[in-house]
Order: sequence, then structure tokens, then C-alpha cells
Amino acid sequence: MTTYSLLILPGDGIGPEVMAEVRKVISWFETSRGLKFDVSEDLVGGAAYDVHGKPLSDATMAKAQSVDAVLLGAVGGPKYDNLDFSVKPERGLLRLRKEMDLFANLRPAQCFDALADFSSLKPEVVAGLDILIVRELTSGIYFGQPRGIQDDNDPANEGGRVGINTQRYTSGEIRRVARSAFELARKRGNRVCSMEKANVMESGILWREEVEWVHKNEFSDVELSHMYADNGAMQLVRNPRQFDVIVTDNLFGDILSDAAAMLTGSLGMLPSASLGAPMENGRPKAMYEPVHGSAPDIAGQGKANPIACILSFAMALRYSYDEGANADLLEKAVEKVLADGVRTGDLLGPQGGTAVSTAEMGDKIVQALGALA
Ligand code: IPM
Ligand code: MG
Repeated sequence: MTTYSLLILPGDGIGPEVMAEVRKVISWFETSRGLKFDVSEDLVGGAAYDVHGKPLSDATMAKAQSVDAVLLGAVGGPKYDNLDFSVKPERGLLRLRKEMDLFANLRPAQCFDALADFSSLKPEVVAGLDILIVRELTSGIYFGQPRGIQDDNDPANEGGRVGINTQRYTSGEIRRVARSAFELARKRGNRVCSMEKANVMESGILWREEVEWVHKNEFSDVELSHMYADNGAMQLVRNPRQFDVIVTDNLFGDILSDAAAMLTGSLGMLPSASLGAPMENGRPKAMYEPVHGSAPDIAGQGKANPIACILSFAMALRYSYDEGANADLLEKAVEKVLADGVRTGDLLGPQGGTAVSTAEMGDKIVQALGALA
């Protein structure tokens, strides 16, 4: 029987609290479903900075490269706001993404029936919503050179400085993420909408041309459409159910996925998977994270919603461990708990109600697993 290796990086803020609930879920799968995990835990973000003076040690990086999957909580917090840019908590996360070459970031936005009232949009606009944003994660303006803050000697520039970032995409980078999106679409609604700003950016023109190339040569059975990213943002809030899979670059994907997440009612619900090239075992190199951040305002109070992190583990079951049936089971357990009316504070609407703690939500999900199995 295979042992699945998992590196847990709880990180900062609510990261450790939500991860404790994932641990309960992992134990349940071990005792009740006979799965075997080799779980190790390490530091990332501010927590790593406090110990090592940098947000990710080389040893942790090497460990991440060697496991079947990494599960990360969240990074960042006000305590680290004034650190030098090079050692900010976020740099640890970006280093993991870049060095593991996790180019395809899958951000599903699904609206659970029980939460349709919660969305900032009308329930009839979001009920049954099920879209998948595929965000390019290792290139674009997040990593392009040149970058930096420089002095310029232009007397007409009041303040005398210039901030530079570069949007840069190679055709190969665009083609590989486009392939991921088309492959995923084939397993869903068979439609891809690609978003860029080809009306103002050359990198957007190349993006569109390369997505079309992959479509024409390899995936002509999938329906492809294009949208300028600003229109895409508008369409996401106007009529989100028109989309199946959206493929877009690193920065647009960052922004559009936050908007898509909120359509579902709470940022505390959304998981993500970041996938790279296949490893020797045929599974992709992978890191899983909740889309939400470290939420320093509620950290340590037992108020955080652990569902996004638990659903991220469900994605690990599906994409890294090939345990699709167990992934389905875990997603069903979450759905059941929500249908039963169990709510953390972020899921209490204007009508109010009683919130359960982070730990109680984890316990309820484990109970639901037992009931459904
Ligand atoms: C995300 C986050 C990160 C990003 C930050 C924390 C660096 O917003 O994963 O969406 O900008 O990619
Ligand atoms: Mg973001």
C-alpha cells in the first residue's frame, strides 16, 4: 500500500488554526479509510522569518521539492509589514511557486446551495455556480525583469523615483497553461474563456495568439472564447454562470479569482491547487492552499473558517494522490455540514445566528465523513 507524503506549512495568522482541522481530517482518512500519509511540518512566511531570518529556508525548499504534495496555510501579517521586500512573508510563497515551477493555479469557485443567500449577488444569479479559474502562476509581472524602485535624474519628476515591473510572457509559458485549462475543461463543461488585455498590451496579443494555437492544433473539440480582462471582471459579477473554465495570466488571475471567490459567499470557502510538470510517479508537482489570506484580525481566536483549507486537502486527494472517490467524499461532508446549518462567523449573514468555532467546524466535518462513509 502506498504511503502519500505531505509537507504541511501552516504559516502565519489563521494558518496554524485551520491546519489543525485538516490534521483531524487526515487522521480520519487514516483510521477509517486505510490511507497512509507521511506528514511532515515546517515553517513558511513570517513564522520562518522569526526563526531563520528569511521567509523560507533552503532546507524547507528542498523538502517541498521532494514530497508528493505541499499544503500551505497562509502567510503575512502586520508584524512583518515593514520588513525589507526581499524577506517579506509573501516572498516565501512566491519562491515555492517559482522553484517548484507550479505554473497552473486552479481556483474553483463553487456556490454551495446552502450559501446562495450569502453572496453579495442575488441568489438566482449565483445558485449552482461552478466555475474554474486557471491562473498562470510562475511568470508575468510577478516575476518579470527589470523590476525595482530606482532614482531617475529627470528634474521634471517630482520625488525623483521610478517604480518598475515588467509583464513578460514566452509563448511556451502561455501554451503550457493553456493546455492545462483545455484538459480541465474536457472533464467539465468543455468551454474555455481566455482573458487578457490584447487591446493595450503586446503580451496580451501573444497570449491570445498562443491560446488560439493550442486550441487549433490540440483542443479544437473544446469551445474557446476570448474576453478583455476588464470586461471579464464585469461579466463575472453580471452573469458568472456563463463561464466554465477561465484561463488568464498571473496578475489578472489574482484579481479575478478574488472577485469570483466572493461570489460564492465567503473567501473562507475557496481552495486552490497549484500544479507543475509531472514527477516520476506521473502525478504533477503540487502545492495546495486556501485562497484566503492570514486574516491577522481574527487569528488565534478560534473564529476562522477551516473549510477552504480542508477543501484544499480534498484537491490534494484528487490531483496528487489519485484518490478521487475520497476527494468526493470529503467535499460531500463539507456540503452536508453546510446544509445542516453549521456556520463559522464568516458564514453568518445579516440574519445572524450562532457561530461555531474553527475546531467545532472541523469536528462536524469529521462526523459528517463518518456518517457518509
Ligand atoms: C494569492 C495571494 C498572493 C498573490 C500573495 C499573498 C503574494 O494574493 O495567492 O492570490 O498575490 O499571488
Ligand atoms: Mg490574491
